[in-house]
Amino acid sequence: MAAGRRDKSSQSSIRGSRIAAAIGIGVLVGCVFAFLFPHGFFSSNPSTEIRSLSKSNFEVDTTSCESTEKINLLKSDIMKLSDKNVELKRQVRELNEKLRLAEQGKDHAREQFMMLSEPRKAGPFGTVKGLRTNPTVAPDESVNPRLAKILAEVAVRRELIVAVANSNVKSMLELWFTNIKRVGIPNYLVVALDDGILDFCKSNDVPVYQRDPDETVDSVGKRGGNHAVSGLKFQILREFLQLGYSVLLSDVDIVFLQNPFDHLYRDSDVESMSDGHNNMTAYGYNDVFDEPAMGWARYAHTMRIWVYNSGFFYIRPTIPSIELLDRIAGRLAREEKSWDQAVFNEELFFPSHPGYEGLHASKRTMDFYLFMNSKVLFKTVRKDANLKKVKPVIVHLNYHPDKFSRMKAVVDFYVNGKQDALEPFPDGSG
Ligand SMILES: *[C@@H]1O[C@H](CO)[C@@H](O)[C@H](O)[C@H]1NC(C)=O
Repeated sequence: MAAGRRDKSSQSSIRGSRIAAAIGIGVLVGCVFAFLFPHGFFSSNPSTEIRSLSKSNFEVDTTSCESTEKINLLKSDIMKLSDKNVELKRQVRELNEKLRLAEQGKDHAREQFMMLSEPRKAGPFGTVKGLRTNPTVAPDESVNPRLAKILAEVAVRRELIVAVANSNVKSMLELWFTNIKRVGIPNYLVVALDDGILDFCKSNDVPVYQRDPDETVDSVGKRGGNHAVSGLKFQILREFLQLGYSVLLSDVDIVFLQNPFDHLYRDSDVESMSDGHNNMTAYGYNDVFDEPAMGWARYAHTMRIWVYNSGFFYIRPTIPSIELLDRIAGRLAREEKSWDQAVFNEELFFPSHPGYEGLHASKRTMDFYLFMNSKVLFKTVRKDANLKKVKPVIVHLNYHPDKFSRMKAVVDFYVNGKQDALEPFPDGSG
């Protein structure tokens, strides 16, 4: 019993000292925390602590609502900012483009001034440069006041895309302007050769122009097949140039993927896409003709270049350009079986010789990967992992008869991201 009590008392004394130690440690820890966190442990501001506690206890729903609201606000802020960012980026792009254009214009003007002013000495080696940018004509509104008014509304910086169309190409025309609208090109105009196309354009909000009745043009325009209509455009374009506008003439079997006006040089009378399919054929090369019978002189060197495509070219309003149109239209009218693209190239490239006076227009070949014909696309680009990644400015389905389905495939591939859209077609017409 005594032992038991002693035990008990000794137990209780041990417990007492343990309690004292615990209290001591508690106080000590309290002091340490009081020292380390003088403004409290959970929050630096007791009132926010209370508020957040009471919120968390009683206002759970409101909090989640408020934070959703806050998130939505932030989201809309972010949207606004990214919109602004896009807008600023667009402005920067526009300003850069303007700067580039201004510099282009300044260079051309300086070149023209230097060449057309007093005779000059040539200057040192490597500094001499001929005139390739001819001065533009003075606009003459009297040739067609109605067209002048339309062009003043439609053109941007006195240039625009022009297509000539009759009802035979209605579905392609629709695809043509749908892509132009998607890219956001404002300066384009359809020259309607019949009432069906006129109404079709009007109902689709497409800028359209119909010429005053003209017997010769009208009969070809209404009934003419592809080549006949193609020849008409040279006659029609004349007035555009006389009014002082640069024209980017486009056939309707063309898919626009970027704004072509961001990719022109504007230094030549004619800047055209090529029917060529590589550097040599598109830009010109020395083709050696071998005649073994000549022995020592068996090799004759010839100049070759694949023709310019008369379905897509940029033409500046200059005297040589207008002379070109007149020469082509004249020959197409006189020579029954002539093909406008062949005539276009002969007039551009053949030099003066006995009995013949050449044109002397300046010319530039467009980049054949940016202004791409359908041979380049189907024979080369679609099979090359790197070339496939570069988005062209336009694709012209000039090399293939199944134009419409290939046009749609081009849109699917470059716009809708369908990687295999170009696969089903053969390289050629099959
Ligand atoms: C074609 O010409 C371009 C530019 O002049 C050049 O960068 C490219 O390497 C050439 N391609 C070939 C296959 O020679």
